Amino acid sequence: MKVLVIGGGGREHTVGWRLSKSDKISKLYFAPGNGGTSVLGENVNLSALDDMLAFAKRENIDFTVVGPEQPLVDGVVDLFEDEGLKIFGPSKAAALLEGSKAFSKEVMASANVPTASFEILDDFRAARRYVESHGEHLVVKASGLAAGKGVIVCQSRKEALNALESIMGKKRFGEAGNTVVIEELLVGEEVSVLALVSGEKILPFLPSQDHKRAYDNDEGPNTGGMGAYAPTPFLTESEMPKIIERVFKPTIKELMRKGIEYKGVLYGGIIMTKDGPKVLEFNVRFGDPETQVILPLLEDDLLEVLIKANDYTLGDKLNCSQNSALAVVMASKGYPGSYEKGFEINIPDLDCNVFHAGTKAEEGRFYTSGGRVLACVGVSNDLISAKEKTYRCVERIECSNLFYRKDIGDKGIKYLSR
Ligand code: AMP
Ligand code: GLY
Repeated sequence: MKVLVIGGGGREHTVGWRLSKSDKISKLYFAPGNGGTSVLGENVNLSALDDMLAFAKRENIDFTVVGPEQPLVDGVVDLFEDEGLKIFGPSKAAALLEGSKAFSKEVMASANVPTASFEILDDFRAARRYVESHGEHLVVKASGLAAGKGVIVCQSRKEALNALESIMGKKRFGEAGNTVVIEELLVGEEVSVLALVSGEKILPFLPSQDHKRAYDNDEGPNTGGMGAYAPTPFLTESEMPKIIERVFKPTIKELMRKGIEYKGVLYGGIIMTKDGPKVLEFNVRFGDPETQVILPLLEDDLLEVLIKANDYTLGDKLNCSQNSALAVVMASKGYPGSYEKGFEINIPDLDCNVFHAGTKAEEGRFYTSGGRVLACVGVSNDLISAKEKTYRCVERIECSNLFYRKDIGDKGIKYLSR
């Protein structure tokens, strides 16, 4: 089969790597891909959805897998399916679960899914009044897509007013900030629960934990994610069915009530509060860097399960190994702010996977070309040894302009040894 993967980050390299293990694959394409994917298959420099469609038709692509949220929210799945092409991911209507935080909160409220109390506001003055009459600890979110940057966690009323000024007044995230969601601030460990959803079938992958802040001890600015590990002990195997029953099932049902069928990966960002698990957000795709730890632990053939999910013929569970996986993201110095590009990267033979994100390949050499550059992923029989293995490999990767966190997995390790 000829398979096209849309996207060019660490997630897409990982998806492509896992797909490439299937003996049914004859050729992999990535649009646009990165330095790492150019070794697995062929990168094609396409960004407009119509160009992707034309390419898929011309090359007789048998199956397409979509990585990032933007093309999903823009309706790439509808576009391909209208032309009779097979593509894995939710429709434009279903992708609104990530594309509009207001829509997502409304669905959760109607479905009685536990989440932070909230207000949806599209008037700047009304939003200011809401902040002035509420507690000190609020979270202000641009409703639309803002490349993961549209959430501002505020520790005082003044910070919340500044957040509103930035989002609604100065339009820092453009149209995405026309509507805001203001939420109560929740406290607890965060876990990422990703599940394959195919109609009423909901099959979870292993739960993982992302590390969103740039520096050790969860300090510094928010990033796309600086590392992850799976499984996380903050959501035990016995608790997973509860999450499926209380979060995923009612959400999918509520969408169905609205006439929207869900097919794709549904990602619940869950916070384990003292009052139980609550949903922080939904994403309508694989997480990055969660995918880098979840897929190495999947024992099933990824291509087969994605095709089955697409055809509504999924079995009853995903088979995952008993091992642990840990990913350390190596990022350009300065990320998530401005950074320089073009530094050569030397990757020796390692007993870890090295998934590329912001890299490009030129004449057999790799160079940095983005903020998050690589994710080094070690798999071992427990979390401590997975961490040791990964960092041993990280230290052997040579590049003069990268930094990484030294404490990925530590919260899980500490919790396990309590
Ligand atoms: P989101 O994109 O909605 O997941 O938000 C990004 C990050 O902001 C989350 O991973 C949390 O760390 C934080 N966050 C979002 N909503 C809340 C909330 N209600 N309480 C506490 N932290 C939150
Ligand atoms: N790791 C966070 C995300 O994929 O949105």
